[in-house]
Amino acid sequence: MNLLPVLEGLHSAEAFHPAFLTSFFERVRELEQDPGAYQDALRGKLIATVFEEPSTRTRLSFEAAAKRLGGQVITVADPKTTSAAKGETLHDMAKVLGGYADLIVWRHASDGASRLASQAAGVPIVNGGDGRLGHPTQTLLDLYTLSREWGDFRGRTVALMGDLKNGRTARSLAWALAVLGVRIVLLPSPSLNWESSFERRILDRFDYRLVQARHPLFRSWIGSDEAFLLEPRGVAQGDLFPEQSAALHKIDAMYLTRLQDERGARQGGAPYPGVTPEVMADPLLSDCLLLHPLPRRGELPPTLDSDPRALYFEQAKMGPLVRMGVFLAFLRPDLWPLPTLQPLPSGCRDHDLGTCPNTGCITHSQKLRAPWRTEGRSRRRFLCAYCDALLPIDYIGCCSSRKVHPIHSPKAQSIRPENLRPFVSREDAERESYSWGS
Ligand code: NCD
Repeated sequence: MNLLPVLEGLHSAEAFHPAFLTSFFERVRELEQDPGAYQDALRGKLIATVFEEPSTRTRLSFEAAAKRLGGQVITVADPKTTSAAKGETLHDMAKVLGGYADLIVWRHASDGASRLASQAAGVPIVNGGDGRLGHPTQTLLDLYTLSREWGDFRGRTVALMGDLKNGRTARSLAWALAVLGVRIVLLPSPSLNWESSFERRILDRFDYRLVQARHPLFRSWIGSDEAFLLEPRGVAQGDLFPEQSAALHKIDAMYLTRLQDERGARQGGAPYPGVTPEVMADPLLSDCLLLHPLPRRGELPPTLDSDPRALYFEQAKMGPLVRMGVFLAFLRPDLWPLPTLQPLPSGCRDHDLGTCPNTGCITHSQKLRAPWRTEGRSRRRFLCAYCDALLPIDYIGCCSSRKVHPIHSPKAQSIRPENLRPFVSREDAERESYSWGS
């Protein structure tokens, strides 16, 4: 099996684990107390920031971070000025820029773009937002903002609100909250929820369960008094059980997001969920911190800016500091050692499994075959290694015995990882002369 080159850099919140996050926040806290301590740490280093989608905070806070550490920056703020406009592939552009810079921060409109770029660049790529999929450094600053208030995340409940389907910040944050064992209340705008396979992956990976929680405020947000909640199986059940749905009494933080209309999101008839000073007077939200990645729309009125629970400008202010930490972690591990990130499997592109079912995946715009990776122990799943979409695999062959089995059969489960040959259909397997396993 030909594995694609390893993914170097930070592509997804899936790379985070509790020891990494705890150390990262401790170190950023030290940096916050003495920001000048590393002012020459990036002397002689050149950072490229390539932003193929609009950005204010992310690009400028990365650049501020590099400069505050004594590094230099080259930048693309408008993709129309690059050879991407002449049809250059992401692979070629990444390979070229990898020869210029020591690290590249890349924002792109397609899911999985930073993973593909990192297979060509030869230097670490930091994902500055890829399509709907991820925004891991935003997640680091979101979590750092909360850690400054709470210290530790144990027993906390965080609600995610708005366009969960298209918002990469909420998706990345959800994963990282599960890494930390936080309860997550899902308040998607009606019809803008993420795909159920994403939730299923969280449930499996973290031993979470999906339950329902009730509160009258939910109706104006999601059209029902009952919202879904993801929580660790081990939590004290308190007010939530034994009924299927029980009253929720407290939300510790709310993460609001705007409608991602540039990704085709439409609000439909329902009002877009948001907060107002009146809503914030409800006892459910009495200590509820308000976060938003910004930019905001009507979901978060300026009349709330002076509310002591409003943290979104504080959150934005943490951008340069947290991104200084990201640069130090990748470029000066000698000065700023951290536990290594969990590696993301790079994937295999040997087999033709058709196109990735996610039309926002980078494989579509770059006309590539979806590379696959596997996940899950007992119920093995095949995912696109770039965008994590579930691939429609129904049969698995064994490269050594040349036999094929239905995916959920015990025989299929026992095939060694290095011998896996996924198939979309039985006909595909027969075409490659695999015989039907007994
Ligand atoms: C977000 C993004 O680009 O994903 N902005 C940001 O990085 N702070 C959120 C958004 O644009 O809605």
